[in-house]
Amino acid sequence: MRLQGKTALITGAARGIGRAFAEAYIREGARVAIADINEAGVRATAAEIGAHPVVMDVTDQSSIDAGVADAVAALGHLDILVNNAALFDLAPIVDITRDSYDRLFAINVGGTLFTMQAVARHMIDRGQGGRIINMASQAGRRGEPLVAVYCATKAAVISLTQSAGLDLIRHGINVNAIAPGVVDGEHWDGVDAKFAEYEGKPRGQKKAEVGAAVPFGRMGTAADLTGMAIFLASPEADYIVAQTYNVDGGNWMS
Ligand SMILES: NC(=O)c1ccc[n+]([C@@H]2O[C@H](COP(=O)([O-])OP(=O)(O)OC[C@H]3O[C@@H](n4cnc5c(N)ncnc54)[C@H](O)[C@@H]3O)[C@@H](O)[C@H]2O)c1
Repeated sequence: MRLQGKTALITGAARGIGRAFAEAYIREGARVAIADINEAGVRATAAEIGAHPVVMDVTDQSSIDAGVADAVAALGHLDILVNNAALFDLAPIVDITRDSYDRLFAINVGGTLFTMQAVARHMIDRGQGGRIINMASQAGRRGEPLVAVYCATKAAVISLTQSAGLDLIRHGINVNAIAPGVVDGEHWDGVDAKFAEYEGKPRGQKKAEVGAAVPFGRMGTAADLTGMAIFLASPEADYIVAQTYNVDGGNWMS
């Protein structure tokens, strides 16, 4: 019960890693609000795991403000924010569209920044500090031939984590990030399908390749990440500021 009495808002938690984090935080004693643009999904997941559902689009400022207010009203206050909502896309440089670029930056970068801002304002007003955990990626550590825009958004998340971490620690708010490697689930089903299209591979082959290349010997699961998410939200991480932790089976060293 390392998060006993704590409250958390987790974005993009209707499924996947965000959902796993919500379940882990609840197991550790926290009360949790989960936010997602997928209204039916977030309501269903919230009912299944015992969280408060928030319908929220992280690209829309009024939706962020209303969503954070909803979470605060439901939970009383917020101690922890996990900025997890994100979108992936893939294309060679010559095929990248403005729409894809705008959408990925709006969700992955703007959504992270402005949700962080809204929750930081609440935490500063309350005067009790807090924890913000941003979801980066190994994709933010270096570029990849077909993944330019997503990689750039995740590099931006690492940079925002550094700047916000340095700015907000004077308010007792620790901002850190997690950089997963390749995590199996619905997200990677979509990634695999896109690689199949661009690299002419049968479905499932890209997953098999990336899993075999992980030093640990397999793709990650959402459960592989929950320990870090709990740790960074716990008092044991008090002295950790502006860092991005790789949780990737050994894929990356930085
Ligand atoms: N799965 C991986 O291999 C992997 C690897 C590295 C990093 N990550 C990062 O981990 C996080 C979670 O990944 P996942 O695999 O669970 O992804 P996912 O696609 O399964 O879940 C993302 C969630 O975000 C929601 N979302 C999308 N746009 C939104 C918006 N505008 N407003 C609110 N919610 C929105 C989706 O509805 C979905 O429920 C993401 O930040 C992702 O970039 C994932």
